[in-house]
Amino acid sequence: MISKATIDKIFSTIRVEEIIGEYVQLKRAGSNFKGLSPFHDEKTASFVVSPSKQIWKDFSSGKGGTAISFLMEIENFTYPEALRHAAKKYGIEIEEDTRELTEDEKQSQTDKELLFKIHEIANDFFQDQLFETEEGKTIGYSYFKERALRDEIIKKFQLGYSPEKKNAFTEYALDKGYSKEILEKSGLSIFPENSPNGVDRFRERVIFPIHSFSGRVLGFGARILKNNIKTAKYLNSPETEIYHKSNVLYGLNQSKQAISKNNLCLLVEGYMDVIALHQSGIENVVSSSGTALTVEQIKLIKRLTENVTILFDGDKAGIKASFRSIDMLLSESMNIRVLLFPDGDDPDSFARKHPQEYVENFIQKEAKDFIDFKAEILLKEAGDDPIKKAESIRDIVKSVGFVQNALKQEIYLKEVSNKFQLSEQALFNELNVQKQLQKQQTSPQQRQEPQAVKPKLEKVPEAFETINPLLILEEKMVELMLKYGDRILDRTDEENNPYQITVIEEIIGHLEEDQCEIQSVLNQKIINEIKSGISENELRSGNFFMTLMDEEITGKIADALVEPYENSDWGKHQIFFSTEEEVVPKIVQDVIFRYKREYIMKIIHDMKKGLSDSENNEETYKKIISLNQLRKEIDEKLFRIL
Ligand code: CTP
Ligand code: MN
Repeated sequence: MISKATIDKIFSTIRVEEIIGEYVQLKRAGSNFKGLSPFHDEKTASFVVSPSKQIWKDFSSGKGGTAISFLMEIENFTYPEALRHAAKKYGIEIEEDTRELTEDEKQSQTDKELLFKIHEIANDFFQDQLFETEEGKTIGYSYFKERALRDEIIKKFQLGYSPEKKNAFTEYALDKGYSKEILEKSGLSIFPENSPNGVDRFRERVIFPIHSFSGRVLGFGARILKNNIKTAKYLNSPETEIYHKSNVLYGLNQSKQAISKNNLCLLVEGYMDVIALHQSGIENVVSSSGTALTVEQIKLIKRLTENVTILFDGDKAGIKASFRSIDMLLSESMNIRVLLFPDGDDPDSFARKHPQEYVENFIQKEAKDFIDFKAEILLKEAGDDPIKKAESIRDIVKSVGFVQNALKQEIYLKEVSNKFQLSEQALFNELNVQKQLQKQQTSPQQRQEPQAVKPKLEKVPEAFETINPLLILEEKMVELMLKYGDRILDRTDEENNPYQITVIEEIIGHLEEDQCEIQSVLNQKIINEIKSGISENELRSGNFFMTLMDEEITGKIADALVEPYENSDWGKHQIFFSTEEEVVPKIVQDVIFRYKREYIMKIIHDMKKGLSDSENNEETYKKIISLNQLRKEIDEKLFRIL
């Protein structure tokens, strides 16, 4: 348990714009920052970060909250994990609460946390084996040396070795108290019927840990040591609760800074390609590790840059993979260039043969735009056959159809027209045909593997389908308490004596006076917190709720505190509105009266409904009349406020 004092320290130290800035390119917009939502595909920025309020709001998904809730969302962290991550970044020492964990808290150590933990343990184990054991040194370490890797690179990528012994790691982990179930779930161990002590999935292989964006180990790739053995060259972790292949790019953690600094991401095929390029000083490189590129992976890159250069082997499989990736990247509005390596080289072998400067120049000079690239490959295949030639051009135009921006599309079409001496009109017609086909049949995403992962953020439908005015006013009251809870209002009582009261006290006072029934569970939660604050002489508004570990609540606060339009530069055009802040005293009163009015209307409505089945209606009529009287008085007060 992290102590409350530490939590407060973390919240007062971290900067939301710095934390989010690692994931999203933020640009200044007035007093806020704006960027493309990391959760939704979008072309105009609707993701807002407010440094002054220390919150974020994603208008495309409706989510929002604190820096901590952002980390929970994007990294799949639990609340304590997100806090620890932030603390580490800012060098804040975590002070643990010394009290024993309750049963509930122990229980909530979820599988996911255990999976993260077991991967950390395994990662340390494999590295230890590589550097500290005889077997590891003579077999694993010398394999990496054969491939000319320097020690600092082996350490940077945390490469390891899994020994020959059938269950070396499994035994080690079981001894440490990890269960068979979690070992099996992680994919690190297998428990066949004839081997009750378990078998290590990766035994006798060198190990490549696969990291998340922020550097946690999610899974492993493991390579055999001799090329002639008839078994899969690489074994990889299976899909688990923490490892979703389609959402991970190998090397992203080690490369993210260089990608954003160079404003370019190199995309390669293999683990060794990433590592070898790093070793030669080219650090803006990731790999999709043998699987077809996915939309999710492209989005990971897009957070850092919109420019990708594909570096694939010149073999048939490499070319095919690059074609598919081109269309995917184009439809995600990325700018792409493509480079195939010559003569059976891959980026790894090429980087080992040549010095850094040469490799950099080669990539810079030889990478072609996708039209030139496809033209070169396809026309070579087509030779003099006019039908095949037409087929090739059609294939190129199909890719142009995936370009998202109309202007860019036209420029590319011009390029094709010049290159093949064809009329723009003919190409334009072909483009439209292709577009129709694309619409009807497939998008490039659909053409590749089925997508296992559904978008994480879905807007939860509101409980009330029809508009419920009481709920709307209740929302507004809670919002006012969160935003301006400690504002002092100057009021006068019935005898015209002045008094002062805070926004929170005035609203809570009203809710208690009328014993209003709160409609939404979340509002009830917030109101309860505020009330217990009052009884402890503490005004709990926006900032107080920020440190609560309730994602829903922090989301709500972001809703309340960030206005969608506050970026618009009305002032520039000499248009000034009175801000909500200036009229708080009026709004609070207005909302309370409106709420009272709606509440009375609801009671009257309910009473009328009950009338027909009731024998003794007279009492009810009387009540309804007096309620209507009350409503009229409120109407008058409302009129006066306006
Ligand atoms: N791959 C895999 N399983 C295999 C073969 C390949 O998962 N049986 C993945 C690995 O991520 C590998 C990538 O596909 O890094 C590219 O494959 P390949 O080009 O064959 O591997 P290299 O990275 O070149 O491997 P090496 O240089 O070690 O032979
Ligand atoms: Mn290779």
